[in-house]
Amino acid sequence: MKLVHTIKEVRTQVKEWKKQGLTVGFVPTMGFLHEGHESLIKKAVEENDKVVVSIFVNPIQFGPNEDLEKYPRDLDKDSKLCQGAGAELIFNPEPAEMYVNHAATFVEVEELTNGLCGEKRPGHFRGVCTVVSKLFNIVNPDRAYFGEKDAQQLAVIKKMVNDLNLDIEIIGCPIIREEDGLAKSSRNTYLSAEEREAALVLSRALNKAKEHLFSGEKDASKIKEVITSEINTEKLAKIDYVEIVDSEILKPVNSMDSSSLIAIAVYIGKTRLIDNFTWRIS
Ligand code: PAF
Repeated sequence: MKLVHTIKEVRTQVKEWKKQGLTVGFVPTMGFLHEGHESLIKKAVEENDKVVVSIFVNPIQFGPNEDLEKYPRDLDKDSKLCQGAGAELIFNPEPAEMYVNHAATFVEVEELTNGLCGEKRPGHFRGVCTVVSKLFNIVNPDRAYFGEKDAQQLAVIKKMVNDLNLDIEIIGCPIIREEDGLAKSSRNTYLSAEEREAALVLSRALNKAKEHLFSGEKDASKIKEVITSEINTEKLAKIDYVEIVDSEILKPVNSMDSSSLIAIAVYIGKTRLIDNFTWRIS
């Protein structure tokens, strides 16, 4: 496995693979990788001849009061995880490699970014879509893999790829959880022992919602109430949002149907965690 830092090195390698007729899978990440990322890389390895992982803490997707500076980083550990999962190339650029001074071009997906995290984190998805477009242009993958934990991000990227006619298949992969239910996230590392315990309220609230749903409750406002009152039992938790939306267009729904997404964002102390559940009837 190779670790490279420049756009030129990635392009040279990928061109060589493409010349040999090989397919390329791509897993964009911000590093501090965990089993969630590992599952994306493994799926990419299964479905492609070669897999590229990018590790780049993208400054333009963080708001002024967010955690850019303290976002956790551990390139050695990440490299081992990528190698173990079967990736062939890590792209780990410096911000100056990715952003020329005074860039004037950004990618913005409208409507789908109006609610949920888009509303709470202004500019976030503009930063995500811009960096992901740039990474797609650099890596030129056949397929790209994203976690379903960031459900809005996944829907927004799918829409962007469709709207811009990018010839890349976007594949969503299931949320990976700790044994006790907490969704894996690089930000879990910010939690103290007490907060780690409190953070279980997110998956517990979603499980309660599922119980009501499976026993026939379809009214979205009632399901939201179940979630809200469960979260409010936890004194370290503060709700950022609890929403039920259509899982593709992300517009709020009044009644649960087979493509509804329940999405929540909750502060545990100072750490903002997200989790979700999509109701799929097969
Ligand atoms: O989900 C993430 O880790 C980031 O938003 C992504 C897609 C790597 C873009 O920086």
